[in-house]
Amino acid sequence: MEQKIVIAMETVESNSLNLNWTSLDLELKAYAKEHHVPIIMDDGLALLEKIIQIQKPKHILEIGTAIGYSAIRMHQVCGSKITTIERNPEMIAFAKRTIVKAGLEDEIHLIEADALNAFDLVKNTCYDLIFIDAAKAQYQKFFEIYSPLLTQNGIIISDNMGFHGLVNETSSANLSRSVRGLIRKLEGYRQFLLNNPKFDTSIFEIGDGLAISTKKDEYAYHRKNL
Ligand SMILES: C[S@@+](CC[C@H](N)C(=O)[O-])C[C@H]1O[C@@H](n2cnc3c(N)ncnc32)[C@H](O)[C@@H]1O
Repeated sequence: MEQKIVIAMETVESNSLNLNWTSLDLELKAYAKEHHVPIIMDDGLALLEKIIQIQKPKHILEIGTAIGYSAIRMHQVCGSKITTIERNPEMIAFAKRTIVKAGLEDEIHLIEADALNAFDLVKNTCYDLIFIDAAKAQYQKFFEIYSPLLTQNGIIISDNMGFHGLVNETSSANLSRSVRGLIRKLEGYRQFLLNNPKFDTSIFEIGDGLAISTKKDEYAYHRKNL
């Protein structure tokens, strides 16, 4: 009887936790939509969550927090610790409130810095997954700076490889110069990933396009280069 009551209470607690998650989730999505904050798209997120479910990363590094939506969603999958870097003061303030609302201050560590200069702040930890979702023109730099912190079986996931479908757009005549520049940068990043001798990369046309890069077996890499 007592055991039944304990189980019932646990169910109530976990249901109310789920309800809180769901309402926070909806609140964040609504805010992002209303204020044009580009958070990860649903189907890209579903793939990211699936990978986390399989890989069970102990620690994830995210470049580009925005309002904290993906950080919370990634943590929810299997309790991974998250270190996330954001440079925009408005986003930082919002993300801090989100993390407190979710009660995840001990699980999600927000670094308030430009990720181009934040290596020293995160270098004492190794990460099983690195999620790159910040300024598109800097993706290659982020990859070069942070990939040395990846564990041997770690994964780097880069979002927005399709850049709202524009990367595969054949006619760029109607696009502004700056958008064309960004597309060129993303195309360059795609080539950098596909030709990287130390990583295997697959690019999925899911969400806004996700690149999934895994470290090559080091032994195989050295054997090939003998
Ligand atoms: C696409 S949003 C991130 C969305 C978030 N990952 C999500 O899905 O919920 C990109 C964020 O990266 C931040 N950002 C861009 N370049 C950055 C940099 N060099 N260092 C830190 N943050 C950066 C922007 O301020 C913006 O908030």
